[in-house]
Amino acid sequence: MSVSVKGDLLARKTRALPLSPKALAEAAAILRRGGLVAFPTETVYGLGADAANPHAVAALYRAKGRPVFNPLIAHIAELAEAERIGHLDDTARRLADAFWPGPLTLVVPAVDPCPVCDLARAGLATVALRMPGHDGTRALLLAFGRAVVAPSANRSGHVSPTEAAHVMADLDGRIDLVLDGGRTKVGLESTIVACLPDAPPRLLRPGGVPAEAIEAALGVPLAARGAGGDGPSAPGMLPSHYAPAARLRLDAAAPAAGEAWLGFGPGGPAGGFNLSPAGDLAEAAANLFGYLRALDAAGPDVIAVAPVPDRGLGRAINDRLRRAAAPRP
Ligand code: TXA
Ligand code: MG
Repeated sequence: MSVSVKGDLLARKTRALPLSPKALAEAAAILRRGGLVAFPTETVYGLGADAANPHAVAALYRAKGRPVFNPLIAHIAELAEAERIGHLDDTARRLADAFWPGPLTLVVPAVDPCPVCDLARAGLATVALRMPGHDGTRALLLAFGRAVVAPSANRSGHVSPTEAAHVMADLDGRIDLVLDGGRTKVGLESTIVACLPDAPPRLLRPGGVPAEAIEAALGVPLAARGAGGDGPSAPGMLPSHYAPAARLRLDAAAPAAGEAWLGFGPGGPAGGFNLSPAGDLAEAAANLFGYLRALDAAGPDVIAVAPVPDRGLGRAINDRLRRAAAPRP
């Protein structure tokens, strides 16, 4: 890790290496020294730091420009590691059984004292846990040997990265290493479910595991975010997020003059990009963030977006599109 001080910002030389056993060993060594490593998962690229090291976590918040009230997800490779960090009740265990490794994050009460430092949890008594379903991520976690906190590897508020080049575009010069594992498969962040005492399981963020699949595994409906008054919420679910520079116009039938076009399904207007010409929601999810970045790069004022069905992965796609379209602070 080479670090030099530029103003009050830590400027770093960022290297990009293809995923390989050697690169993974180097990444683990950087994490041990308190450095910052971006790596692919099955959902989006994450920006990792040692969960137990508050200095590393502080540097991570700074590199992203992320508000420190927004807690991070701890990534683990083994269930035993999850249980050293959080209290998993029967519901949480059932969900871990059904969907781990995979794109599901569980928010559970934190063990006290918690191996995931206070700063990474934004001082909350709960902790977010995820076991990623990606061989490279798993190998990194095993090489490092304990939990790695990792938000999506973008500047705070930007579109999440699904390729190493997206990470470089946002974070070059701010982190130590990017492991390049090609395009991510799912393309949307994990689904977040809170499993907390004296409350029904609650969907905090739609994502890579459709809510319908979770409900089928549990046999009960999930409570909605914010339902039941002061229920827990995901502090990071700000109304404006995942934002390209262009404004988004949603549920458009066709682009108006001068607008860029993001289509979905067969038979729409020509030009621009189509999330999935066949109307496949998994394909659309995988393409969403990359196409938003690509359209935005041409500098249009407005990106018009075709309607996407609000079921299965479509619910997570629409959540991200609504946030990208929301008025900016
Ligand atoms: O797929 C993913 O989840 C990716 C990859 C890298 O694993 N990570 C990701 O992290 O999307 P991030 O930081 O972009 O989003 C984490 C979300 C935030 O909205 C945060 O507020 C919420 O998780 N969160 C973290 N800890 C929480 C807690 N204890 N209670 C409620 N929400 C929490
Ligand atoms: Mg994010």
